[in-house]
Amino acid sequence: MSGFSPQWLDLREPVDHRSRNKGLGRALAKHFEGWRPMTVVDIGCGTGSNLRATAPLLGPDQHWTLVDYDQALLDAAVERLSAWADGADRQDGKLALFKGAKRINVEFRRADLAGDLEGALGPGANLVTASAFFDLVSADFISALVTAVARRKAAFFTVLTYDGDQRWTPEHDADAAMADAFHAHQATDKGFGAAAGPNAPDLLGEALAAAGYTVTEADSAWRLGEGDGALIADLARGFAEAVRETGKVEASVIADWVAVLRTGAVVGHTDTLALPPA
Ligand SMILES: C[S@@+](CC[C@H](N)C(=O)[O-])C[C@H]1O[C@@H](n2cnc3c(N)ncnc32)[C@H](O)[C@@H]1O
Repeated sequence: MSGFSPQWLDLREPVDHRSRNKGLGRALAKHFEGWRPMTVVDIGCGTGSNLRATAPLLGPDQHWTLVDYDQALLDAAVERLSAWADGADRQDGKLALFKGAKRINVEFRRADLAGDLEGALGPGANLVTASAFFDLVSADFISALVTAVARRKAAFFTVLTYDGDQRWTPEHDADAAMADAFHAHQATDKGFGAAAGPNAPDLLGEALAAAGYTVTEADSAWRLGEGDGALIADLARGFAEAVRETGKVEASVIADWVAVLRTGAVVGHTDTLALPPA
């Protein structure tokens, strides 16, 4: 179990999809225009949300490997992807999806990215991708991942990496203290060593540029308001719980902060596209 429930991932998926930077998506599509077939590895795939949003940008013949260490999420991915496609055929643990004019073959790889990055990535791919993943990992992991991606001469595309910006509506006197504590919690070990948290986008960009990649970064903030009540409430609950765990904010202040009904929030994210040197 990773601590990420399918229910939480379901709740955030529509917001994740509408928040992804459209311009960067178009740049990815342009880079791979005419590629057939193409191979993709999605790391920390959860229930397959990244495939559902990225596959429409790519060509008609795609081969994806979905990697996660949480078997329950991989099982949920099979279910969610089959329901998303126009048609699905499951054989020997593999899934053939038919969506519009695209055929998308999917393999699932249960692997701990922190323990065996090479095995998790496999021998090679045209594209290594992830969604809502990189703030969990350490600076060392980012460096190792970029080296591994560059060795495979793969393109790299990751979306929705938390960048440290957060604003709540209505504002509260404790917002700044709560955010400081939350960022301390973000830096705790999520299985990869001290997590990069909101530094992840910069660390990724620097490492990819140093490897000779052409890097483009773009905004993909969640802008939550009317219609997003369930996600805002869950987000505030999870945020307060993380703050509580740090012991950096008094319990009475947290209780006061939690008691406010929030109608909006902005959570800053960055999308990163990195294209390999020719
Ligand atoms: C925030 S979720 C994002 C899931 C999915 N990419 C999405 O956008 O909905 C982070 C994912 O990373 C996976 N993960 C975290 N640590 C991992 C590790 N060490 N090895 C493999 N997967 C890991 C979790 O199981 C979870 O599915």
